[in-house]
Amino acid sequence: MNIMTKDGIDAYHPLDPLSAKELETAANIVRAAAFFNQFTKFETIELELPDKPAVQAWQPAGRLPRRAFVCLYDTGNGAVRECRVDLDSNTVLNDVVIPGARTAVMIDEIAVCAENVAKNGDFIAAMARRGITDLANIQVDPFSAGNFDFDDEQSLRIVHCWVFYRTDAFDNGYAHPVEGLNVIYDLNREEVVRVLDRTLVDISMTDRNYSVRFDDISRRLRNDLKAIAISQPDGPSFSVQGNRVQWLNWRFHVGFNGREGLVLNDLRFRDGDNLRPLLYRASVAEMVVPYGDPSYGHFRKNAFDVGEYGIGRLANPLTIGCDCRGHIHYFDGVVTDTAGAPMVIENAICMHEEDDGMLWKHTDYMTMDVETRRSRRLVISSVATVGNYEYGFFWNLYLDGTIELEVKLTGIMNTAGYNDISGDKYGTQVSPEVVAQNHLHLFCARLDTAFDGNANSLVEVNVVQDPAGEANPWGNAFHAQETVLTSEKKAQRVRNAETERYWKIINPNKANRMGGATGYKLMAPCMVRTFFHDDTLLAKRAAFTRHHIWATPFAATERYPAGNYVNQSKGEEGIAVWNEADRNIENTDIVVWHTFGIMHLPRLEDFPVQPVVKCGFSLMADGFFDENPTLDMPPSTDGGNA
Ligand code: CO
Repeated sequence: MNIMTKDGIDAYHPLDPLSAKELETAANIVRAAAFFNQFTKFETIELELPDKPAVQAWQPAGRLPRRAFVCLYDTGNGAVRECRVDLDSNTVLNDVVIPGARTAVMIDEIAVCAENVAKNGDFIAAMARRGITDLANIQVDPFSAGNFDFDDEQSLRIVHCWVFYRTDAFDNGYAHPVEGLNVIYDLNREEVVRVLDRTLVDISMTDRNYSVRFDDISRRLRNDLKAIAISQPDGPSFSVQGNRVQWLNWRFHVGFNGREGLVLNDLRFRDGDNLRPLLYRASVAEMVVPYGDPSYGHFRKNAFDVGEYGIGRLANPLTIGCDCRGHIHYFDGVVTDTAGAPMVIENAICMHEEDDGMLWKHTDYMTMDVETRRSRRLVISSVATVGNYEYGFFWNLYLDGTIELEVKLTGIMNTAGYNDISGDKYGTQVSPEVVAQNHLHLFCARLDTAFDGNANSLVEVNVVQDPAGEANPWGNAFHAQETVLTSEKKAQRVRNAETERYWKIINPNKANRMGGATGYKLMAPCMVRTFFHDDTLLAKRAAFTRHHIWATPFAATERYPAGNYVNQSKGEEGIAVWNEADRNIENTDIVVWHTFGIMHLPRLEDFPVQPVVKCGFSLMADGFFDENPTLDMPPSTDGGNA
């Protein structure tokens, strides 16, 4: 495969996502295999990640084998099969059936589900009981069903549907939840298993809209905004070859797949003559949104949006509705549908530079000499729509070597009707008889660290108050106590505000100017606890939320902290299971996992559409550079436009 830019520059990188053509080829090879039949559907076709040592040794002009990972499922017997396909020799290298696995809920299945539910006799009758006979504007949201040990669900691949009513096609259905009515739907057989008419609650009929297509909104649009123009007359400071990016001192590769969406590969930072590695790979590898209402079917709400749906498959095409400003570079995302056909998400990833205010400043009070520098950041982002919610994943790279992930949460909160059991105890009434329930958004970032090389260690730092006494006569002493976390179980750590606890990832084999190990500090301001009980299946499935920090020795197969097959899983696999081996994580190739998120107790202001709420983390150089790495920034000369 030759990937040339229009300037004739070879833009290939071994981690390039499969192109639409490669995806098509992979699907065709699999379709010709003996195990493929009329019931076989595609969950995933994506690049099989080449071996890490080969990627790290790769030099431009070199080529690694192009291979596809393909995951299939049989809608007849439920079997899930994984294949590895060689795209150079057009062969299936091997295939294996994964017992007990269930594939993710696919986008094209969601549309069929909604249609089939609306045609179901029991559903029509249940809606009629609620006074609704015209189902043209009914909205059926298929939620992943989870696993609650119900015998009759164990052999099925199902979703648990929530129902909302729209007063017209564009109306916000979340203002009109149809409380007490759920549908269990079999995705493989494409049929309703059961309509659960649990209780009868009046449907709130107050319209709550946010779109300019509604007069109520369009007539209040303000007209006092003066233009803010962002101008980059010399173009951006980055250059792009295929998926490889150079921005000032930064070098990295932009990856994408249907499950994790945006991935950053091989992040390096130029320091003098050295291009120093920081991260081999960074992604959001799982998330879960557990809700806290025990009434009727609401215990079911705990979507694992990465593993159960795929954040990449749900990425927005930013061809319309991109909010970035200035000189933008877009990357397409290519995913596949259940028939194995490539679907190009145009402009799935947006990259642009932003001004970031003050970088550093000092006024010499004796000479009144002022030195000031402006900060800027490179933003690489992608936004996914998961039913009611939007998740924006914004990776920000800064001049001082900081890597930040900002997750922006917006969209519409999931709602329920005010019912006789819960009322609004477990949420906030945001519209008459409409309750937005308490929930958490928990994300798990997989950080394959490579600070100055693959051999890294994880260190916990706690600030200790020295005891009063002879050595601390004035009672003011405190110091940082560092503990190297040497094994997987020792690295299962949670927040501690009392000791200002934080973690560092160091390279014990590399010394900075003062003799300390080079490293980066994890700034983790968004650590929250969960409130489900430990003996629940949910706790097992969402085991990655038990600790805020985890570490594992690098293993190519350990990519998803809630396991490879999350949909209706019982938590049989994933990070807690891998950690049972208690492997060494000191001075070796490690992966650090950080679970972060927000506790969302809904506000009236979050409805009918939620202003962005942010959470995330950053990695900040800590003894990695010998001094402030931005002394090479030229002064800001003309009031901030430099
Ligand atoms: Co929320």
